[in-house]
Amino acid sequence: MKIEILPSLLAADFGHLADEILRAQSSGAQALHLDVMDAHFVPNLSFGPDVVALAKKVAPSFYRNVHLMMSRPDLYLETFAQAGAQTIQLHLEADCDLHTELRRIREMGLKNAIVINPETPVEKLLPYLDEIDEVLVMTVHPGYGGQKFIEECMPKVRFLRDRKRDLDIMVDGGINFETAKTALEYGANQLVAGSYLFKQSDMKKAVDEIVAYAREMHNA
Ligand code: DX5
Ligand code: ZN
Repeated sequence: MKIEILPSLLAADFGHLADEILRAQSSGAQALHLDVMDAHFVPNLSFGPDVVALAKKVAPSFYRNVHLMMSRPDLYLETFAQAGAQTIQLHLEADCDLHTELRRIREMGLKNAIVINPETPVEKLLPYLDEIDEVLVMTVHPGYGGQKFIEECMPKVRFLRDRKRDLDIMVDGGINFETAKTALEYGANQLVAGSYLFKQSDMKKAVDEIVAYAREMHNA
């Protein structure tokens, strides 16, 4: 099973965004996670399509994973696709018809994903499992970086892994080396980390450490 680490740009130094994107890319991480917040679905505002376009411009080969924390993501799919999103992640709790929007994302040639908040039961994903490329299990309440990992969300990861061996299962929120180990043990294979990675003076070392743990675990 492939293991992917995704630095979340939300935790970058916004005064040096282009350099921070390049720093994340040269850490060996597989993709950049871009958190779009609309101050309605979540209580915070972050950035929009221009930052996705910036990432595409400064690091064209660094995969762009776009997490839409928006009440009406359906109104912005084309905008983010044009800006350079390669995977678009929609919240199950958003106010749109998910079957339709998941299909539209694929029709644009992109990968799709559903995100579930900590309080959302995992069973709600079951009707969509054959229509999605990945699931994102939130391990904090979305809206801010730097929060504490909610370990109670882990049985959702195990439930999904038991159900579908080859599903890409991502976790997002409060990931550091210790919580990464926990998430990997429960069956996650894609880990988003914001504050933990961007605060490192050597981001590559932190990424390598997580990947090495995952490899050892899978070979054991
Ligand atoms: C939270 C965002 C996360 C956030 C993670 O709403 O979806 O991607 O950037 O930040 P850390 O890793 O600092 O918890
Ligand atoms: Zn996110």
